[in-house]
Amino acid sequence: MQGEVQIGGAKNSALKLMVAALLGQGAFCLENVPHITDVCTMAEVLESLGARVRFNAQRMEIEVNALQGRTPEHLVKSMRASVQVMGPLLARLGWVEVALPGGCAIGRRPLDIHLSGLQQMGASIALNGERLVARAPRGLRGADITFRYPSVGATENIMMAAVLAKGETVIRNAAREPEIADVQAFLNAMGARVTGAGTEVIRIEGVGELGCANFVVMPDRIEAGTYLLALLTTGGAGTVCSVRPEHLSPLLNAVRSMGAEIAVDGDRISVAAPKRLRPFGLVTRPYPGFPTDLQPQMVAAATQAHGRSELRETVFDQRFGYLTELRKLGAVARQKGQVVAIHGPTKLHGTRLEAGDLRAGAALVVAALAAEGQSLIHGSQHIDRGYEALERKLSGLGARIRRVE
Ligand code: EPZ
Repeated sequence: MQGEVQIGGAKNSALKLMVAALLGQGAFCLENVPHITDVCTMAEVLESLGARVRFNAQRMEIEVNALQGRTPEHLVKSMRASVQVMGPLLARLGWVEVALPGGCAIGRRPLDIHLSGLQQMGASIALNGERLVARAPRGLRGADITFRYPSVGATENIMMAAVLAKGETVIRNAAREPEIADVQAFLNAMGARVTGAGTEVIRIEGVGELGCANFVVMPDRIEAGTYLLALLTTGGAGTVCSVRPEHLSPLLNAVRSMGAEIAVDGDRISVAAPKRLRPFGLVTRPYPGFPTDLQPQMVAAATQAHGRSELRETVFDQRFGYLTELRKLGAVARQKGQVVAIHGPTKLHGTRLEAGDLRAGAALVVAALAAEGQSLIHGSQHIDRGYEALERKLSGLGARIRRVE
């Protein structure tokens, strides 16, 4: 495959900015919002809470006036990110009710870090059947909170709870993902006082109220990494455009170690696959480590590397479900606990595949593109959660891909 592909706005920023708007008042405009199903689901969540959302062609207008704090069960079950509304609604209304998010294909994903942070800020939280009810009738107060693990969602939830709390909140061992810097910048544009995003200590000075703001969502580093790995795995050369290369350093270092030529020019990254892809040894880590969201796609690339690659997954406890499907294509991959060893190169042959979750689905597409013959991938609804116009973008790189009902 070869050519250029335009990268869209980051799913894992846009979803949080939409929720952060609940803290403010008035008319917001978000640009570079990806048209993916998770964003549409979050728009439904916001509307169920009383906000008005208009969304077309990457531009989203959100009107926030009166709100209520009960989220619809079916929406929270379908998308874990809905629990991000707890912080803002507790801060603004003094109460919130959310269904427990379903477990999902990549592991248990508890909420203990979110809930303990909110409790330290004065919230009382009860489980009412399958629904979490949180109350802070006298408002939230600032607290000095140390996370046992740098949870991305918990960092953002507590940041948002803290912007209207009384006094200062400090989050220690905070997650450092780039999307958190987007949330900080957006909150500050609304009148909040947040500092430290991108480092492990975030400080939030509570203020009385927030206004509204306009904002441009940062590029999606995981979408960009997925297309770079598709080019590499098919032995091609191409460019991803409108990205922030500094957000992709862990991936660029990994593909360079595999022998790829990488050229960075402003907001464009070009990759050219070597004749012989070298194997790698990798561990997924919280940012700035290698991102778990590119782990399945990296394993797909390893099937074409000459030798034995090894990858350890340390962020989620069940994120190798897709290996069964990769083996159907002909991959030689052995999993032992949280480590997978992949022997390559293996000739892959197209077949019928089942996508179990978003990034697993992306990995199957990458591997199927490198396979001989046609593959049929069921479960494209999982892929559509995080990739806008996947078949159009891949066709632009020379792939033969189409959607079939
Ligand atoms: C965000 O999920 C992303 N989702 C995930 O991307 C990403 O994989 C993850 O961060 C890690 O980078 C969104 O931003 C919408 P975590 P999140 O809280 O916030 C455990 C994708 O494909 N944990 O950092 O849920 C948890 O079980 C998605 O785009 C607790 O134990 O991630 C997991 O093992 C997948 N208790 C680990 O921490 C808690 O209270 C990381 O979770 C919270 C988390």
